[in-house]
Amino acid sequence: MKYVLTGGAGFIGSHLARMLLQQGHAVDIIDNLSTGNLSNLSEIKDRIKFHNADIRNGPDMKKILAGKDGIFHHAALTSVTESYLKEKEYLDVNVQGTKNVFEAARETGTKVVFASSSGVYGNTDMVPTPESAKPNPANPYGITKLQTEILAQEYREKFNIVGLRYYNVYGDNPAVPSAGVISKFYKNISKGKPPVIDGDGLQIRDFVFVGDVAKATISAMEKNTGSVFINIGSGAAISILDLANLFIKFSKKSLNLTFEREPEGNVRASQADISLAKGLLGWKPEAKLEEWVESLFKK
Ligand SMILES: NC(=O)c1ccc[n+]([C@@H]2O[C@H](COP(=O)([O-])OP(=O)(O)OC[C@H]3O[C@@H](n4cnc5c(N)ncnc54)[C@H](O)[C@@H]3O)[C@@H](O)[C@H]2O)c1
Repeated sequence: MKYVLTGGAGFIGSHLARMLLQQGHAVDIIDNLSTGNLSNLSEIKDRIKFHNADIRNGPDMKKILAGKDGIFHHAALTSVTESYLKEKEYLDVNVQGTKNVFEAARETGTKVVFASSSGVYGNTDMVPTPESAKPNPANPYGITKLQTEILAQEYREKFNIVGLRYYNVYGDNPAVPSAGVISKFYKNISKGKPPVIDGDGLQIRDFVFVGDVAKATISAMEKNTGSVFINIGSGAAISILDLANLFIKFSKKSLNLTFEREPEGNVRASQADISLAKGLLGWKPEAKLEEWVESLFKK
């Protein structure tokens, strides 16, 4: 198949690109390298077609996306903290940019699988959270993701469009700043510094391995899904406090935890109900967070 992938120089996109190539597909990548990096694609650079383009440019999107069998849309600005400072830019990239991708897909009727986020749920009473829970984003980043979903609903009759609500994705390379709390803990501990916890650390998160995420994403493209939103998480949860202690345990360093004020827009409990992903995609997460953290300190 001929696939095109926006945001392919980023964390999830570069893993997805590698898996698509392994499966024998042709892959075009669109990325403006604002947070992504060509080094994420170094081992596959000769086997992909790279377009240094911006999803905010509608005519470019129509040109590059034409004639493809499927579109994976992952380009976005992804920092919750930054989304408070750059609300307009987040709307432009995440919502207007996504609209350009959907418009290009409409012209050719091409299926789109796009990265939404568990951030659409915000603070919800239903934990583990099924897709039917009412969205209630807690920060501007989450609001942009909900707006892309509302947009997707306008197009859902015109072509198949699947929004994947990714939870906290982890995996190589943990030093990439966009990889969130895991990368922060790892960076500190490797320098012999204590992990810094936002708030009391009792907030829970659902961490899902990037290889499992890539498999689910390809399944969402290949299966006969119709237009739908699907949670992609591990289905399990761990508190940030327990995660920090796990890092300390496997690092074998003697470190005390440090606590800081919880930032605005932080969600208390985030854990996916993954029944729909299991049923519709025939997928289940396989990686174990604990084993992966242990492997980090064996390298
Ligand atoms: N990593 C997670 O835990 C997580 C969780 C939920 C949802 N998501 C979503 O998954 C997607 C991928 O996330 P990621 O962690 O790989 O982020 P990332 O920042 O590593 O990748 C995003 C990529 O998009 C590119 N990009 C940004 N603006 C662009 C623009 N205007 N035009 C073209 N390219 C542009 C960046 O250069 C980068 O390569 C995003 O849509 C994100 O919102 C990620």
